[in-house]
Amino acid sequence: MLDAITAYLGHYNSNLGGAFFSSAETVSVVEKARASAQALLGAPSADNIVFGANMTSLTFQLSRAISRDWQAGDEIIVTALDHYSNVSSWQQAAEDKGVIVHQVRVNEADCTLDYDHFLSLLNANTRLVAVTYASNTTGSLVDVKRVIEAAHQVEAQVYVDAVHYAPHALVDVQALGCDFLACSAISSLARMWELRILHQNGCRHFARTRLNLRQSRDRGVLKRVLKVLRRWQDWLLRLSIWRSGR
Ligand SMILES: Cc1ncc(COP(=O)(O)O)c(C=O)c1O
Repeated sequence: MLDAITAYLGHYNSNLGGAFFSSAETVSVVEKARASAQALLGAPSADNIVFGANMTSLTFQLSRAISRDWQAGDEIIVTALDHYSNVSSWQQAAEDKGVIVHQVRVNEADCTLDYDHFLSLLNANTRLVAVTYASNTTGSLVDVKRVIEAAHQVEAQVYVDAVHYAPHALVDVQALGCDFLACSAISSLARMWELRILHQNGCRHFARTRLNLRQSRDRGVLKRVLKVLRRWQDWLLRLSIWRSGR
């Protein structure tokens, strides 16, 4: 991948849509990337795929676009399980439009989303639900299909943050029926190492392992795991520098 990035930036880096060689190559690279992302997420068309600087920026931009239709008195739902990037953009957009923001609680005993609380917040005024597929702090998995089905009954849109989920399991946006789903290339690459280490036990086990570590407050084990991961990352970095210098 490093070679592909280096080759592109060194030889073809260009704007899109120009009538010259490097621009045509850029169009082709972007088309291939869209097709790959479509396959990765199970999207109906490559046209459904949008690339941006990162998940946070994309969420901010989308929140500005869709909140244009919101009215004062409308409501949106965010969750206490989510990364702040899937909360703050929606809060800001809601504040600008006089929209009420509800936050779904987390069950403190096991760090899962409180579905009953979610259902109690949902009503005919709900315009959007922003929810994570997997928490980056506790590793908890969310039954997003359940959230989506309930939200669609009141015609609310659902924005799923799959940044932490996508590196560990397959995403199928059509099976989920979500309106929007975001993931992040940088997180996927960084977490590949974690995925490899625990690959044979699957992602659910990985999520539970993190959760158990947190619950048992076994900081010693957690510290040792993190130390090994950091060492691996360090070696990866050295390998990258060595390879790019050749
Ligand atoms: C669950 C989750 N959502 C969102 C983000 C933000 O992603 P990005 O860095 O692409 O903006 C992160 C970053 O670690 C994350 O873990």
